[in-house]
Amino acid sequence: MPSLLPGPVKSVDSIRLALFTWPEVEVYLKTSKAVILPIGSTEQHGPTGAIGTDALTAEAVALEVGRRTGVLVTPSQSFGMAEHHLGFAGTMSLQPSTLLAVLHDIFLSLASHGFERIFVINGHGGNIATAKAAFAQVYKTISSRDLPVAEKFQCKLANWFMAGSVFNAAKELYGDKEGQHATPSEIALTLFLEPTLVAKQYPLPEAAPAGPIYGANDFRKRYPDGRMGSDPFLAKPEHGATLLEKAALALSDDLGKFVSSK
Ligand code: NI
Repeated sequence: MPSLLPGPVKSVDSIRLALFTWPEVEVYLKTSKAVILPIGSTEQHGPTGAIGTDALTAEAVALEVGRRTGVLVTPSQSFGMAEHHLGFAGTMSLQPSTLLAVLHDIFLSLASHGFERIFVINGHGGNIATAKAAFAQVYKTISSRDLPVAEKFQCKLANWFMAGSVFNAAKELYGDKEGQHATPSEIALTLFLEPTLVAKQYPLPEAAPAGPIYGANDFRKRYPDGRMGSDPFLAKPEHGATLLEKAALALSDDLGKFVSSK
Protein backbone atom coordinates (compact mmCIF):
# COMPACT_ATOMS: atom_id res chain seq x y z
CA MET A 1 0.00 0.00 0.00
CA PRO A 2 1.41 3.40 -0.88
CA SER A 3 1.46 5.46 2.29
CA LEU A 4 -0.52 8.62 2.88
CA LEU A 5 1.10 11.95 3.63
CA PRO A 6 2.63 12.09 7.13
CA GLY A 7 1.07 15.54 7.75
CA PRO A 8 2.33 19.07 8.35
CA VAL A 9 5.39 19.77 10.50
CA LYS A 10 6.24 22.94 12.43
CA SER A 11 9.75 23.43 11.07
CA VAL A 12 11.35 22.53 7.75
CA ASP A 13 14.25 21.09 9.76
CA SER A 14 11.93 18.18 10.63
CA ILE A 15 11.79 17.08 6.98
CA ARG A 16 15.33 17.77 5.71
CA LEU A 17 17.04 14.46 4.94
CA ALA A 18 20.42 16.17 5.40
CA LEU A 19 19.63 16.60 9.12
CA PHE A 20 18.33 13.04 9.65
CA THR A 21 20.34 10.16 11.09
CA TRP A 22 20.06 6.78 9.38
CA PRO A 23 17.95 5.27 12.19
CA GLU A 24 15.60 8.25 11.81
CA VAL A 25 15.29 7.51 8.10
CA GLU A 26 14.35 3.91 8.94
CA VAL A 27 11.67 5.17 11.32
CA TYR A 28 10.39 7.59 8.65
CA LEU A 29 10.11 4.71 6.16
CA LYS A 30 7.72 2.95 8.52
CA THR A 31 5.29 5.87 8.16
CA SER A 32 5.89 7.01 4.58
CA LYS A 33 7.56 5.72 1.43
CA ALA A 34 7.54 9.13 -0.24
CA VAL A 35 10.42 11.53 -0.72
CA ILE A 36 10.90 14.86 -2.48
CA LEU A 37 13.99 15.60 -4.58
CA PRO A 38 14.51 19.24 -5.62
CA ILE A 39 16.40 19.68 -8.91
CA GLY A 40 17.56 22.99 -10.35
CA SER A 41 20.32 24.46 -12.42
CA THR A 42 23.33 26.72 -11.96
CA GLU A 43 23.10 29.04 -14.95
CA GLN A 44 22.92 32.65 -16.06
CA HIS A 45 19.59 34.41 -15.56
CA GLY A 46 20.18 37.64 -17.47
CA PRO A 47 22.25 40.62 -16.26
CA THR A 48 20.26 41.06 -13.03
CA GLY A 49 19.27 37.50 -12.09
CA ALA A 50 21.13 35.15 -9.75
CA ILE A 51 23.06 32.21 -11.24
CA GLY A 52 21.41 29.97 -8.64
CA THR A 53 17.84 31.02 -9.48
CA ASP A 54 16.56 27.60 -10.61
CA ALA A 55 18.17 25.75 -7.69
CA LEU A 56 17.12 28.30 -5.05
CA THR A 57 13.52 28.32 -6.25
CA ALA A 58 13.17 24.53 -6.58
CA GLU A 59 14.58 24.01 -3.10
CA ALA A 60 12.33 26.66 -1.54
CA VAL A 61 9.22 25.15 -3.13
CA ALA A 62 10.34 21.64 -2.12
CA LEU A 63 10.91 22.62 1.51
CA GLU A 64 7.55 24.39 1.68
CA VAL A 65 5.79 21.34 0.17
CA GLY A 66 7.67 19.17 2.67
CA ARG A 67 6.64 21.40 5.59
CA ARG A 68 2.99 21.23 4.56
CA THR A 69 2.90 17.47 3.90
CA GLY A 70 5.56 16.05 6.24
CA VAL A 71 7.31 14.36 3.31
CA LEU A 72 11.09 14.10 3.54
CA VAL A 73 13.12 16.46 1.28
CA THR A 74 16.56 15.37 0.04
CA PRO A 75 19.44 17.77 -0.61
CA SER A 76 19.02 19.57 -3.93
CA GLN A 77 20.55 18.49 -7.20
CA SER A 78 21.64 22.04 -8.01
CA PHE A 79 23.46 21.32 -11.28
CA GLY A 80 21.26 20.68 -14.28
CA MET A 81 21.31 20.48 -18.04
CA ALA A 82 22.29 24.03 -19.03
CA GLU A 83 24.51 23.45 -22.07
CA HIS A 84 22.90 26.31 -23.99
CA HIS A 85 23.77 28.80 -21.21
CA LEU A 86 27.50 28.02 -21.24
CA GLY A 87 28.21 31.18 -23.25
CA PHE A 88 27.70 33.15 -20.03
CA ALA A 89 30.16 33.26 -17.12
CA GLY A 90 29.21 31.33 -14.02
CA THR A 91 27.04 28.76 -15.74
CA MET A 92 27.88 25.17 -14.74
CA SER A 93 26.19 22.46 -16.76
CA LEU A 94 25.84 18.70 -16.79
CA GLN A 95 25.52 17.13 -20.22
CA PRO A 96 22.20 15.31 -20.67
CA SER A 97 23.93 11.91 -20.40
CA THR A 98 25.68 12.98 -17.17
CA LEU A 99 22.49 14.32 -15.58
CA LEU A 100 20.66 11.18 -16.64
CA ALA A 101 23.30 9.05 -14.89
CA VAL A 102 23.26 11.22 -11.74
CA LEU A 103 19.47 11.16 -11.43
CA HIS A 104 19.33 7.42 -12.17
CA ASP A 105 21.80 6.71 -9.36
CA ILE A 106 19.97 9.00 -6.92
CA PHE A 107 16.63 7.29 -7.66
CA LEU A 108 18.20 3.83 -7.42
CA SER A 109 19.75 4.68 -4.03
CA LEU A 110 16.37 5.76 -2.68
CA ALA A 111 14.63 2.70 -4.15
CA SER A 112 17.17 0.36 -2.57
CA HIS A 113 16.13 1.63 0.88
CA GLY A 114 12.45 1.19 0.22
CA PHE A 115 11.30 4.57 -1.03
CA GLU A 116 8.47 3.94 -3.48
CA ARG A 117 7.39 7.43 -4.54
CA ILE A 118 9.96 9.97 -5.74
CA PHE A 119 8.46 13.43 -6.25
CA VAL A 120 10.93 15.53 -8.22
CA ILE A 121 10.36 19.26 -7.84
CA ASN A 122 12.07 20.94 -10.77
CA GLY A 123 13.02 24.59 -11.32
CA HIS A 124 14.50 24.38 -14.82
CA GLY A 125 12.83 23.65 -18.16
CA GLY A 126 16.09 22.27 -19.57
CA ASN A 127 15.95 19.37 -17.07
CA ILE A 128 12.56 18.05 -18.15
CA ALA A 129 13.51 15.74 -21.01
CA THR A 130 16.48 14.28 -19.15
CA ALA A 131 14.56 13.77 -15.89
CA LYS A 132 11.91 11.80 -17.77
CA ALA A 133 14.61 9.75 -19.49
CA ALA A 134 16.12 9.01 -16.06
CA PHE A 135 12.72 7.75 -14.84
CA ALA A 136 12.58 5.29 -17.74
CA GLN A 137 16.15 4.21 -17.09
CA VAL A 138 15.65 3.56 -13.37
CA TYR A 139 12.40 1.63 -13.94
CA LYS A 140 14.40 -0.62 -16.25
CA THR A 141 17.18 -1.09 -13.68
CA ILE A 142 14.82 -1.76 -10.79
CA SER A 143 12.82 -4.36 -12.65
CA SER A 144 15.94 -6.06 -14.03
CA ARG A 145 17.40 -6.32 -10.50
CA ASP A 146 14.07 -7.37 -9.03
CA LEU A 147 14.32 -4.96 -6.08
CA PRO A 148 11.58 -5.37 -3.44
CA VAL A 149 10.04 -2.01 -4.43
CA ALA A 150 9.83 -2.99 -8.12
CA GLU A 151 6.06 -3.35 -8.25
CA LYS A 152 5.36 -0.06 -6.50
CA PHE A 153 8.19 2.25 -7.48
CA GLN A 154 7.11 5.46 -9.25
CA CYS A 155 8.69 8.82 -10.01
CA LYS A 156 6.84 12.02 -10.82
CA LEU A 157 8.14 15.29 -12.21
CA ALA A 158 6.58 18.51 -10.86
CA ASN A 159 7.74 21.72 -12.54
CA TRP A 160 6.75 24.40 -10.03
CA PHE A 161 6.74 27.21 -12.62
CA MET A 162 4.30 25.27 -14.82
CA ALA A 163 1.66 24.68 -12.12
CA GLY A 164 -1.60 26.15 -13.47
CA SER A 165 -2.09 28.66 -10.65
CA VAL A 166 1.53 29.84 -10.88
CA PHE A 167 1.36 30.18 -14.66
CA ASN A 168 -1.87 32.19 -14.41
CA ALA A 169 -0.52 34.46 -11.66
CA ALA A 170 2.61 35.15 -13.74
CA LYS A 171 0.44 36.02 -16.74
CA GLU A 172 -1.67 38.39 -14.62
CA LEU A 173 1.35 40.07 -13.05
CA TYR A 174 3.61 40.34 -16.09
CA GLY A 175 1.60 39.59 -19.25
CA ASP A 176 3.86 38.86 -22.21
CA LYS A 177 6.87 40.30 -20.29
CA GLU A 178 7.03 36.99 -18.43
CA GLY A 179 9.04 35.66 -21.40
CA GLN A 180 10.81 32.30 -21.44
CA HIS A 181 14.04 32.74 -19.51
CA ALA A 182 15.09 34.95 -16.59
CA THR A 183 11.38 35.43 -16.11
CA PRO A 184 10.06 37.99 -13.61
CA SER A 185 8.19 35.22 -11.79
CA GLU A 186 11.29 33.17 -10.99
CA ILE A 187 13.30 36.32 -10.24
CA ALA A 188 10.51 37.51 -7.89
CA LEU A 189 10.80 34.29 -5.92
CA THR A 190 14.57 34.76 -5.55
CA LEU A 191 14.03 38.37 -4.36
CA PHE A 192 11.67 37.06 -1.70
CA LEU A 193 14.09 34.31 -0.64
CA GLU A 194 17.30 36.34 -0.82
CA PRO A 195 16.68 40.04 -0.09
CA THR A 196 20.26 41.04 -1.00
CA LEU A 197 19.33 40.36 -4.63
CA VAL A 198 16.86 43.28 -4.66
CA ALA A 199 19.74 45.77 -4.88
CA LYS A 200 20.98 44.08 -8.09
CA GLN A 201 17.83 44.89 -10.05
CA TYR A 202 17.76 47.76 -12.56
CA PRO A 203 15.71 48.60 -15.65
CA LEU A 204 16.81 46.73 -18.76
CA PRO A 205 16.21 47.43 -22.45
CA GLU A 206 13.68 45.30 -24.29
CA ALA A 207 14.82 41.67 -24.33
CA ALA A 208 15.39 39.66 -27.49
CA PRO A 209 12.14 37.83 -28.28
CA ALA A 210 11.84 34.22 -27.18
CA GLY A 211 12.65 31.73 -29.94
CA PRO A 212 14.44 28.45 -30.55
CA ILE A 213 17.31 27.05 -28.47
CA TYR A 214 20.35 25.41 -30.07
CA GLY A 215 23.97 25.48 -28.89
CA ALA A 216 25.70 27.88 -26.47
CA ASN A 217 27.24 30.18 -29.09
CA ASP A 218 23.99 30.42 -31.01
CA PHE A 219 22.10 31.16 -27.78
CA ARG A 220 24.37 34.09 -26.96
CA LYS A 221 23.93 35.48 -30.48
CA ARG A 222 20.14 35.24 -30.34
CA TYR A 223 19.80 36.37 -26.72
CA PRO A 224 22.79 38.68 -26.12
CA ASP A 225 22.10 39.50 -22.45
CA GLY A 226 20.76 36.03 -21.62
CA ARG A 227 17.08 36.92 -21.39
CA MET A 228 14.42 35.45 -23.67
CA GLY A 229 11.56 37.93 -24.00
CA SER A 230 11.39 38.71 -20.28
CA ASP A 231 11.43 41.86 -18.16
CA PRO A 232 12.74 40.80 -14.74
CA PHE A 233 12.62 44.42 -13.51
CA LEU A 234 8.87 43.87 -13.02
CA ALA A 235 9.66 41.32 -10.28
CA LYS A 236 8.88 42.27 -6.67
CA PRO A 237 9.66 40.26 -3.54
CA GLU A 238 5.98 40.23 -2.55
CA HIS A 239 5.14 38.60 -5.88
CA GLY A 240 7.63 35.93 -4.94
CA ALA A 241 5.79 35.26 -1.68
CA THR A 242 2.51 34.87 -3.59
CA LEU A 243 4.05 32.58 -6.20
CA LEU A 244 5.66 30.41 -3.53
CA GLU A 245 2.31 30.04 -1.79
CA LYS A 246 0.57 29.09 -5.05
CA ALA A 247 3.32 26.65 -6.05
CA ALA A 248 3.38 24.99 -2.63
CA LEU A 249 -0.40 24.63 -2.59
CA ALA A 250 -0.59 23.14 -6.09
CA LEU A 251 2.37 20.79 -5.65
CA SER A 252 1.27 19.61 -2.18
CA ASP A 253 -2.02 18.65 -3.79
CA ASP A 254 -0.22 16.84 -6.63
CA LEU A 255 2.00 15.06 -4.12
CA GLY A 256 -1.01 13.89 -2.10
CA LYS A 257 -2.58 12.38 -5.22
CA PHE A 258 0.71 10.82 -6.31
CA VAL A 259 1.36 9.23 -2.91
CA SER A 260 -2.13 7.78 -2.56
CA SER A 261 -2.53 6.59 -6.17
CA LYS A 262 -1.92 3.03 -7.32
NI1 NI B 1 15.33 29.72 -14.55
